Amino acid sequence: MRAIQIARLDGPQAAHVVEIDEPAGGDDVVVVDVHAAGVAYPDALQSRGLYQYKPEMPYIPGAEIAGVVRSAPEEAHVRPGDRVAGLTMLCGAMAEVVTLPPERLFRLPDSVSFEAGAGVLFNDLTVHFALRTRGRLSNGDTVLVHGAAGGIGTSTLRLAPAFGAARTIAVVSSEEKADVARAAGASDVVLADGFKDAVKELTDGRGVDIVVDPVGGDRFTDSLRSLSPGGRLLVVGFTGGDIPTVKVNRLLLNNVDVVGVGWGAWTMRHPGYLQQQWAELLPLLASGRVRAPEPVVFPLEDAAAAIASLEDRTARGKVVVSLR
Ligand SMILES: NC(=O)c1ccc[n+]([C@@H]2O[C@H](COP(=O)([O-])OP(=O)(O)OC[C@H]3O[C@@H](n4cnc5c(N)ncnc54)[C@H](OP(=O)(O)O)[C@@H]3O)[C@@H](O)[C@H]2O)c1
Repeated sequence: MRAIQIARLDGPQAAHVVEIDEPAGGDDVVVVDVHAAGVAYPDALQSRGLYQYKPEMPYIPGAEIAGVVRSAPEEAHVRPGDRVAGLTMLCGAMAEVVTLPPERLFRLPDSVSFEAGAGVLFNDLTVHFALRTRGRLSNGDTVLVHGAAGGIGTSTLRLAPAFGAARTIAVVSSEEKADVARAAGASDVVLADGFKDAVKELTDGRGVDIVVDPVGGDRFTDSLRSLSPGGRLLVVGFTGGDIPTVKVNRLLLNNVDVVGVGWGAWTMRHPGYLQQQWAELLPLLASGRVRAPEPVVFPLEDAAAAIASLEDRTARGKVVVSLR
């Protein structure tokens, strides 16, 4: 089979196509013919050895797939021929065939393409966990999201209204990314530069209930200042590079929370959680209440460029690579 392999840790350009043997099946795994694989920021970090999870070398990048079940154990909830999305978490996805335990596979509605399906799990389940489990989103809340034209960002803009948010404020770095955020459903879009004052004006000084922050860095303190009393700042990632520190007197003075969001770690400790999450998301996607992502699709041969687009900040929305 064809797959992408990374054999040295000097960045995305090391990702290249190889011919390798298909993985062996087994009594307790599902074999999937992969049509598309998602690209997420950890793929860029991993290619430089900078991510907390370090796969054995050489490795196949990618955390999520969509495809068709080739074979499955008798008792599995998916059958041969089923269209599925799956989580390889945190590598192994960019290959024409993968094997996965049944609990990492999720039936895809017919209305969701393989490309969209390959881009749905990693971000949407993280955002579901962030807003519902950790962020305590209530009906009528206003949600601000940084990096709003990125994978986590567009996912937040698509999902937050379906979970009850009355308003979403997207923070982006350019006018071009503002268009991406609007297309993903943002109520308002502001530029990162000076976002605190813009948010103050948009909310008549009240601030927002939730900040979803996949960026971190030097905007963290202004994010805290943008919260209304009782607000929650959800720490999702650090694409901005620096890991911010927080002076906890700010939390006390304004009655706000900084909340860690580590979805992968949570799923390891909560068996069945992934399937519970999908049970909530599936009807929203199938009914069209939440639109599927509309990813930028790269051919497999250009996987290096696909991963690099997240690192060099040129990615628009979700990025996937196509395998069939
Ligand atoms: N906690 C969890 O469980 C979890 C799960 C999944 C992902 N994550 C994390 O979430 C973060 C976002 O992932 P993603 O897949 O959404 O990434 P993405 O698609 O590349 O989006 C990230 C956004 O960050 C902004 N950004 C600001 N400074 C940047 C810089 N120096 N380099 C690159 N981007 C920069 C960019 O928006 P602007 O240009 O508009 O600023 C970009 O659109 C990553 O840190 C990832 O590891 C965490």
